[in-house]
Amino acid sequence: MNELTAIILAAGQGKRMKSMLPKVLHTLAGLPMIHYVVEAAAAAGARDVVVVVGHGREAVSAYLHHAFGDYVRIAVQEEQLGTGHAARCALPLLPSEARGVFLLYGDTPLIDASLLHRLAETWRRQPGAALGLVTCFLEDPTGYGRVIRDEEGRVLRIREQRDCSAEEAAVREVNPGVYLFDAEFLRETLPELRAQNAQGEFYLTDTVEMAAPRGMATVSSSADQLRGINDRAQLEEAEEEMFRRIAARWRREGATIRGSARVDATVTLAEDCIIEHGVVLRGKTRIARGARIDVGAVLEDSEVDERAVVKPYSVLIRSKVGPGAQVGPMAHLRPGSILGEDVHVGNFVETKNTVMHREAKANHLAYLGDSEIGEASNIGAGTIFCNYDGYQKHKTTIGARVFVGSDSQIVAPVTLGDGAYIATGTTVTRDVPPDALAIGRTPQQNKEGYAVRLRERLKAQAETAKAKLGLLLDLGKERLIADLKRAILALCGVFGNIPRHT
Ligand code: UD1
Ligand code: CA
Repeated sequence: MNELTAIILAAGQGKRMKSMLPKVLHTLAGLPMIHYVVEAAAAAGARDVVVVVGHGREAVSAYLHHAFGDYVRIAVQEEQLGTGHAARCALPLLPSEARGVFLLYGDTPLIDASLLHRLAETWRRQPGAALGLVTCFLEDPTGYGRVIRDEEGRVLRIREQRDCSAEEAAVREVNPGVYLFDAEFLRETLPELRAQNAQGEFYLTDTVEMAAPRGMATVSSSADQLRGINDRAQLEEAEEEMFRRIAARWRREGATIRGSARVDATVTLAEDCIIEHGVVLRGKTRIARGARIDVGAVLEDSEVDERAVVKPYSVLIRSKVGPGAQVGPMAHLRPGSILGEDVHVGNFVETKNTVMHREAKANHLAYLGDSEIGEASNIGAGTIFCNYDGYQKHKTTIGARVFVGSDSQIVAPVTLGDGAYIATGTTVTRDVPPDALAIGRTPQQNKEGYAVRLRERLKAQAETAKAKLGLLLDLGKERLIADLKRAILALCGVFGNIPRHT
């Protein structure tokens, strides 16, 4: 009796999106809209799902396969002849044990499992009901099918907007497109649908009139979770609602999330983490207990461990930040950056494919690419790991407790042994043994009193240059005046020849 399955319709083009991408693959909060619909069906107990695809079918099926594997099976609707026809295309794939079939539209991502649960409960309480139907009231029902009831309040049928009489069009109770069919009824009814209506389409909604005599269970719901997305403005509204829900859920779990932060549906947060204003968390990002992500940081597929702090406006992609570590402000951790416990990476430091072991530090302006940096080593300001020769990337290996003085260049491939000391401004091109000092800069000379002489010389040079310029200008002035005189005389000559009256 209780075997539930689901059909999701997603073959339409979504013309109003004006997009190359099929409508149901447009994302909100990091996931395509179809993803949420499949998830809701799964959470409501559907043991499998058939998605009907048409426009952009390769892309839609590829995504579903990647995200849900065998849980989703694909039916193809070659030509978009209407929602009833689309549902019919799914029939051959319905498992024979299925008793109840959720029928949902792929463009209503805000639908949530609790509504589907409620629908299933109501439907089960009414044995023999051919259909469980959700309805809702809208201030402005434009575009939706209207729910037409008889005098006793029983649902008679759904009338599509374009087929409505004036009286029917005034009805504000609408069909959001969430159904639970008795499987037997669905198998019998779909082949009987006819396309006799304003749009010449097979309407799924015509099944409602056919179900009425066999008994129907209805559930009413609030309108906000049932909005279909037809254009990008609706997509934006739905995404904001999705972000609100995600944040609300994590707040209940004990995370602080400021109002303007945006946390994707794929992100995991722990208790007592703090997500500040303007933060964007994407992909498989995970923030551990007590970690703080400060204003404006953007993290994608990255992990931040307990007590770690990511300071404002840092960008982290596919990176890991160890317990108690500090990053930023304005640091850039590129893919493969792995920071151990209590590591510090400061402002304007860029790392890529780099492991920094515990307590290693690079506090200011540096590029650390393709490297491993040992425990408690210190990388001075302005250090560059020269990892690329224009053809290949090379590795820099730095031992424990190494000191790299400011403004050094480490030309990879190269290894600095434990405890090595690189003097400021050194260009390291050869390995440095453990505990050795590497220094590679021109020795400094001090010339007594030279600064005074230098200043006098420079001042004299500047004065000579100025005087020369003055001379040139004077010369130029005289020439200019002579030229002007000549021009005026010439003009007088011309005007002199013009008769005053014609
Ligand atoms: C439909 C309902 C309407 C309801 C509204 C709620 C019908 C006839 N009407 O209208 O009562 O108020 O949804 O949003 O069902 N699709 C296919 N193949 C097709 C046509 C559509 O797969 O041949 C898919 C679309 O991709 C979409 C869904 O079905 O995901 C709904 O189609 P759409 O054209 O948007 O229906 P509405 O006109 O909105
Ligand atoms: Ca629609």
